Amino acid sequence: MTIDLTGTVMLVTGASRGIGRAIAVQAAASGATVAVHYHQRREAAERLAAELGREARAFGADLGDVTAVRRLFERVVQAYGRLHVLVNNAGIARSLPLDAPDEAWRVGWEQTMAVNLRAPELLCRLAIRHFRRHGGGRILNVASRAAFRGDTPEYMAYAASKGGLVALTRSIARGFGKDGIVAFTLAPGFTRTDMAQDFIDTYGEAHAVRDLALDRLTRPEDIAPMAVLLASGLADHATGATIDLNAGSYVH
Ligand SMILES: NC(=O)c1ccc[n+]([C@@H]2O[C@H](COP(=O)([O-])OP(=O)(O)OC[C@H]3O[C@@H](n4cnc5c(N)ncnc54)[C@H](OP(=O)(O)O)[C@@H]3O)[C@@H](O)[C@H]2O)c1
Repeated sequence: MTIDLTGTVMLVTGASRGIGRAIAVQAAASGATVAVHYHQRREAAERLAAELGREARAFGADLGDVTAVRRLFERVVQAYGRLHVLVNNAGIARSLPLDAPDEAWRVGWEQTMAVNLRAPELLCRLAIRHFRRHGGGRILNVASRAAFRGDTPEYMAYAASKGGLVALTRSIARGFGKDGIVAFTLAPGFTRTDMAQDFIDTYGEAHAVRDLALDRLTRPEDIAPMAVLLASGLADHATGATIDLNAGSYVH
C-alpha cells in the first residue's frame, strides 16, 4: 500500500511543535502541501515550513480570537486556492483547581472552550462549506483520551472541551458523508510534548508509563502516521470513528 498525498493541501493547526509538528512533517514526507499554523512560535513555524518544502507556508493566528480563526481559513484558501484536509490539532490544557478564584475559573473555562472547541467548530464549518463547493474533503480532530475517561479534577474543562470535539466530529461524519466529507477523531493518550511536561515534572515518567500496556510513552511520531493514513482517503469508510492512540491504556 502506497500513501501519496501529492496535490493534497492540508491545514494543520498548532504545527509549530508537538503532535501537530509531527503530523506536518509526516504529511509533507508523503507529498502533501502543508499550511503550518502557529500561535506564538512564528520562527519555529517558518523554519518548519521551509524544511517541509512543497509550498508549505506558516500562518499565524490566535485560535482564541474568532476573527483570527476566520481570517486564518481565508488566508490558507487564498494562498492555495483549495483545501483538502483540515487537521484541528492545536489545543491548551490549563490547570483549574476547584478552589481557584471565581474569575480565574470563568476565564480558564472560556479560554479552554474557545481554543479547544469553538475554534475547531468554526474551522470545521468553514471547511465543510468549502468542501461542499469542491467535491469533498477530510477533517481530523485531535481530541484526547480524557474525552472518554475524564481527567483529573484540575483538568475538567479540558476533558469537557475534548468530549465536545468528539461529538462534533461524529455529527459531521453523520451529516455530511453524502457530500463527500469524512471526519475522524484522533484520541491520543499521554504523549511526550510540552503539554505533558508539567505532569512528567510533577509525577515522574514512571508514573505515566504505569498506566500503559506498552513500556514507553507515546511520542508525536507515534501519532502522525495514523493522521496521514486518515488524510489519504484510504480509510474513508472509518468515517466517524475515534482512533485511540494511547499505548493500550484502556486494555492494560
Ligand atoms: N500531549 C499529550 O499528552 C496529549 C494527550 C492527548 C491529547 N493531546 C492533544 O493533542 C493536541 C496537540 O497537543 P501537544 O501535546 O502537541 O501540544 P503542545 O506541544 O502544547 O503544542 C500546542 C500547539 O497548539 C498551539 N496553540 C496553543 N494555544 C494556541 C492558541 N491560543 N491559538 C492557536 N494555537 C495555539 C501552539 O502554538 P505555539 O507554540 O505557536 O504558540 C502549539 O503549536 C492538543 O489538542 C492536545 O489537547 C495531547
